[in-house]
Amino acid sequence: MASTTQMNDMVTLFRRELELCGVREGETVAVLSELEALRDYAAAFMTAARDLGAHVFNVNVLPASTVAAGDKVGNVGKTALAGNRPAIDALKSADLLVDLMFLLFSEEQNEIQKAGTRILLVVEPFEVLSRLFPTRELRERVEFAEAKLEAARQLRFTNPAGTDVTYELGTYPVMTEYGYTDTPGRWDHWPSGFVFTGASDTGVNGKVVMDRGDIVYPFKTYVREPIEFTIREGRVVDIRGGLDAGLVRGYMESFRDPKAYGISHIGWGLNELAQWSCHATGVPGIGMEGRAFYGNVLFSTGPNTELGGTNDTHCHLDLPMKGCTLTLDDELIVEAGELVPEEMRAPGR
Ligand SMILES: [Fe+2]
Repeated sequence: MASTTQMNDMVTLFRRELELCGVREGETVAVLSELEALRDYAAAFMTAARDLGAHVFNVNVLPASTVAAGDKVGNVGKTALAGNRPAIDALKSADLLVDLMFLLFSEEQNEIQKAGTRILLVVEPFEVLSRLFPTRELRERVEFAEAKLEAARQLRFTNPAGTDVTYELGTYPVMTEYGYTDTPGRWDHWPSGFVFTGASDTGVNGKVVMDRGDIVYPFKTYVREPIEFTIREGRVVDIRGGLDAGLVRGYMESFRDPKAYGISHIGWGLNELAQWSCHATGVPGIGMEGRAFYGNVLFSTGPNTELGGTNDTHCHLDLPMKGCTLTLDDELIVEAGELVPEEMRAPGR
């Protein structure tokens, strides 16, 4: 449990975050947590919300499994809230739900969002939350990227290791993450800073070759030997390489689910505060720094229910890659890991 000073710091920072989320007097803020996990966050969010004049309550449930919050992102969709109708209904009645559990990719999350509740996921360590505190400036750049991606019909990305893959766009919506949410029914994750969409279900073709130093989530490890994914009509049909390719292949096989080989979201990072080296120094958490890293391309496999698709596999890999070049209908967006359009570039970049 946090000391009094730490708790005061937490309440102060969480209050600023809730202000960005537009929490005002008379609104209802719900906090969802699992037993003892992140108890200090739950207490600090409730205190901060009350200080802003909101009604506050905490839904605390028994964990569905022994998977730690930080590891849930690799095994998604199964939550401790499933089938708990009174708890789901209570959360739907809130204006803002602070999710300390990890509802992403679950039916429960979709239902709560449809009720108009905005949802903020918070599971990263306090140090990361502080260092990557969101700004309105980041939101503007992410929303500019959103408009570009919405207008595009084809996305292609390459890298020096041999990647050359195309995504046919237009079937699924574009989604943004900038670290807070003041829009009814909208989900976000603090911290963040990227934009993504999905291709049509059979609209991904080519090769993705992850280079040395790229990151594999949920492993939170850096690739040591290139991993080559061959993709045909929206499915991974072959994975080649050395040690890392073997680990990824074994992980995907362990789900015994053909849907695990679908292609999930695609997009790029815009957060210049995110550190690529975060896992080299052992920062705990689920790894939002690699995912939101400025100028990365975030390739991923698995479910697309978050975008409104039907692939509900529990096997999800987020695979941020550095140094890529990404185009939208032949317009350069990322060139060798640097954002090109001025409206997307961070101050001083
Ligand atoms: Fe993902």
